[in-house]
Amino acid sequence: MKLNWAELLVVNNPSRVFQQKFEIGWMRKHARLAPGGSFLEIGCGRGAGASIIRRQFCPGFLCAMDLDPLMIRRAFHYLRPQELQNISFCAADALNLPYPDGAFDAVFGFGVLHHIPNWQGALAEVGRVLKPYGTYFLEELYPTLYQNFITRHILLHPTQNRFRGQELKKALDAANFLVHASLELNLFGILAVLKKAC
Ligand SMILES: C[S@@+](CC[C@H](N)C(=O)[O-])C[C@H]1O[C@@H](n2cnc3c(N)ncnc32)[C@H](O)[C@@H]1O
Repeated sequence: MKLNWAELLVVNNPSRVFQQKFEIGWMRKHARLAPGGSFLEIGCGRGAGASIIRRQFCPGFLCAMDLDPLMIRRAFHYLRPQELQNISFCAADALNLPYPDGAFDAVFGFGVLHHIPNWQGALAEVGRVLKPYGTYFLEELYPTLYQNFITRHILLHPTQNRFRGQELKKALDAANFLVHASLELNLFGILAVLKKAC
């Protein structure tokens, strides 16, 4: 589901960049990936995460994809020319990723799954495109934040098939991911580093 005007304000502002710097720093501490790997970011938005991932992890190449072509255009303009050398962009649906099986060493997704009605299907796709023992870096929010009595009138999200920690962990387990490290604020959301278990 694409973002409405209110959530565009929430994610396209400088405080989000600081938050992602903190989160990606935490992720790096918990998963030391060899430089030069093949990375994917699903739901890349305006590209701030891709820029930080590139600096912190030094991938060989990074594919940044988003459902919304407008976001892809923003990301292209957000990144500096030297950053664009090993980044490719793609407008596509996380439910049908246009990449072969086992293509990536690592997949990142910041605040994306809770925008997808069939988020379990997107988890299966992440598992498909990851190499065996590949790493999935995840940041997710729970409905307490985006569907409370105020935010449900302002933000636009799917209303059915929602998840909190318990449902998310059960679905990650079913999709064959092992939790390597996690940082959860019970009612609000989770940061996690997961390994594909096979
Ligand atoms: C809350 S924004 C987060 C953007 C960015 N990752 C960040 O953290 O600032 C969610 C993003 O996921 C994208 N998105 C929503 N549904 C998607 C889907 N089915 N496939 C790929 N991207 C999707 C939206 O267009 C939006 O850019």
